[in-house]
Amino acid sequence: MAFVDWKPEYNVGHAEIDEQHKRLVGLINQLHDAMKAGGRHEDLMRIMNELVNYTRYHFTHEENLMRQAGYPDLASHQRAHRAMVEQVEKLKQEAGSSRAGFSIKLMGFLKNWLTDHILGSDMKYAPALKTSKM
Ligand SMILES: [Fe+2]
Repeated sequence: MAFVDWKPEYNVGHAEIDEQHKRLVGLINQLHDAMKAGGRHEDLMRIMNELVNYTRYHFTHEENLMRQAGYPDLASHQRAHRAMVEQVEKLKQEAGSSRAGFSIKLMGFLKNWLTDHILGSDMKYAPALKTSKM
């Protein structure tokens, strides 16, 4: 069993977005596996970097879709994205300074960070993308 199992209720019903969310889940699982296997700090950091970079890419992509669909709550979703990027950047910096930064606590945070984002805020814009066939 993976650290984060993909569940059908995580699907927002937009193929591209669902694929990107699965990739984020995959990176969190990869980080968890590498930690469990006692991976080297630099290898953990490489995965963490990829997670942060892919998150930025994904958020920009979502924001573009929401803009094209004329989604009315784009501004607040963008604020939430920015706050999430800041949080994960901070964790990356903490983890960068010490191997101990890669902890159960970090993994728990990442798991909630992602599932709250998908289950909470992303479910709200999903109907708007469907209506506009983005
Ligand atoms: Fe998302």
